[in-house]
Amino acid sequence: MFAIDHIPVDPPLVLAPMAGVTDRDFRLIVRRMGGVGVVTMEFISSKGLMRGDPQILQRLTFSEEERPLSIQIYGSDGPTMAEAAREVERRGADICDINMGCPSNKVLKGCAGAALMGDLKVAEEIIAAVRQAISIPLTVKFRLGLDDRRQNYLELGRICEANGVAAVALHPRTARQKFTGSAAWRHIAALKDALSIPVMGNGDVGTPEDAARMIRETGCDAVMIGRGATRNPWIFCQIAAHLSNGDMPQPTWEDRRDLILDHFHTIIAREEPKFARFKLQTFTGLYSKGLPDSLKLRRQIHSLQEPEQFIEAIERFFDKLIPRQAA
Ligand SMILES: Cc1cc2nc3c(=O)[nH]c(=O)nc-3n(C[C@H](O)[C@H](O)[C@H](O)COP(=O)(O)O)c2cc1C
Repeated sequence: MFAIDHIPVDPPLVLAPMAGVTDRDFRLIVRRMGGVGVVTMEFISSKGLMRGDPQILQRLTFSEEERPLSIQIYGSDGPTMAEAAREVERRGADICDINMGCPSNKVLKGCAGAALMGDLKVAEEIIAAVRQAISIPLTVKFRLGLDDRRQNYLELGRICEANGVAAVALHPRTARQKFTGSAAWRHIAALKDALSIPVMGNGDVGTPEDAARMIRETGCDAVMIGRGATRNPWIFCQIAAHLSNGDMPQPTWEDRRDLILDHFHTIIAREEPKFARFKLQTFTGLYSKGLPDSLKLRRQIHSLQEPEQFIEAIERFFDKLIPRQAA
């Protein structure tokens, strides 16, 4: 069985960190479906955490049901990252993850995320400082490098290994690529060959067959999934069934509608109106991506204001799909 240090990851399937997405509600949805070995929180700014930013502290809450849970932090200097990691451990995370792959301009400008792949000396200082600060397993998630000419993921992987990192995750695109092109899985295989610590493969897994192929082609120890889980929150249990030679029935349109409506009612009941609207907009977009005739729904998103309008829009959208399924 795959484990990150002493933390069992069974099945070897990991919910990738996604800012604005892998909040407590979404992690619980995925966890309750089953089939996921570890869930990861949205990334947490080490500086924000140490400042005691109330929004960040709020984001750091989780429930026992989510375990094992990994909390990802980002930042640009060893001492602050070490302090933040200590806080993450104090709050009870099972695993602490360092983000060295975020390509967003805001994070890059702060010399964090993927920017650290441009300065492996600082990257190593951060990894060493965090490793020393905590006793829970440490993982690092990164990309191929800053751009095609500077692909130094093997070097960073070796630095991780030499500094006591328990496992690494590779999303094989460069920072410059952001989400364009396709994830070049051959680099996951190359990293696996180069290291003796476990490697989690990530990028463009959208079906159980993709996951099985990633394991076969790269030899990765676990598969990490991001966007595939928002398009299809059932993906982990489907993959788990597929890997153990079973198959799971596809969720019906009713199943999807009920999942979305349950999630939306939870958001509406708990969040203050402005934040609730932001979450409803985000998840309407994510959940509908790839569904038939969903473009119109996504175009509507910004004109929807009141919670009830989101509920109605979802109900109307599925009312059109459900008869098709029965036909
Ligand atoms: C909306 C969104 C937010 C993301 N936020 C983070 C993040 O906070 N930390 C991180 O390491 N990666 C983040 N990622 C990248 C994912 O973890 C993952 O590496 C990437 O989406 C590729 O995997 P996928 O093809 O399975 O989605 C984010 C991706 C998306 C789409």
